[in-house]
Amino acid sequence: MLSVRCELEVWPERAAPPPDALARRLATADGLLCLLTDRVDAALLARAPRLRAISSVSVGLDHIDLAAATARAIPVGHTPGVLTETTADLAFALLLAASRRVVEADRFVRAGEWRVWEPDLLLGRDVHGATLGIVGLGAIGRAVARRARGFGMRVLAWSRTRRPLGDLEGAVAWSALPELLAAADFVSVHVPLAPETRGLLDARALAAMKPGAILVNTARGGIVDEAALAEALREGRLAGAGLDVFEREPLERESPLLGLPNVVLAPHIGSASVATRARMAELAAENLMAALDGKPMPACANPEVYR
Ligand code: NAP
Ligand code: GLV
Repeated sequence: MLSVRCELEVWPERAAPPPDALARRLATADGLLCLLTDRVDAALLARAPRLRAISSVSVGLDHIDLAAATARAIPVGHTPGVLTETTADLAFALLLAASRRVVEADRFVRAGEWRVWEPDLLLGRDVHGATLGIVGLGAIGRAVARRARGFGMRVLAWSRTRRPLGDLEGAVAWSALPELLAAADFVSVHVPLAPETRGLLDARALAAMKPGAILVNTARGGIVDEAALAEALREGRLAGAGLDVFEREPLERESPLLGLPNVVLAPHIGSASVATRARMAELAAENLMAALDGKPMPACANPEVYR
């Protein structure tokens, strides 16, 4: 789509471009199509005098200095909506895998350790009838709540804004965050990473979770204190976790999480289905082309630039 409309320079390597390499290429560029691994900060924008459009193949924009882009009247596009259901599927997959110890069970069978049926082999936690706490009832949080309803769970939600529940009326109860953490058997995180949410689930919040609870994070690693989480899991205060996102990605080889059997780990694949990744790429290209044509982006994170 883009090559028909633009002269393209495509970063050829698998790893993200180092900041200086990106800056050198942006020196003469009108538009940038980037991934969540590309840091677009004020320093980079200062080296991109012609830039008039930024489009990220992600819904999360914590890698982009939105205020700096807005100050330059550069619209920033992202991909909300098209990845909601796919990401909610992964959050639920992690919830089920952690509660029913699916990955541990797989390793057990492959290791040839399955010799006899035992009444207490790999006992997990029931999902049906349990309480799920959703931190951030936005698009993905709501999609997870719908899945939880289908599984016969009680759903509590905390959100910055208590928006109308709509089709979830009667299925979700609002809660303050401390009460949610104390009551939930499962906590699933769905707020973006922002200054107000960085460390939202810090050591204190994790200590306030119900003993034996399971944490699922498909939002961003920086929202959870990873060292405190690893400690709670090691001690068995929390029964398990399902994590798709980490404070530093890729997860470092030294991470204590890697040595814990009660954690299910995924390499940031929340939106990674064939259809959804194609739709994200398409929407990102549409955003970029619209802006280069002087039209509003279909999904713009700073629409105030058009006023
Ligand atoms: P969304 O529809 O915008 O929902 C975000 C929710 O978080 C809303 O309830 C919003 O509340 C709340 N929120 C926003 N800023 C906040 C703040 N500063 N403090 C407290 N609450 C805040 O977004 P979404 O599509 O559900 O996506 C949520 C996040 O999931 C993304 O930002 C991204 O980081 C992550 N994600 C990860 C993957 C993955 O591959 N693992 C895939 C997709 C998304 P208000 O109603 O008050 O604004
Ligand atoms: C993925 O993490 C996204 O923000 O789209």
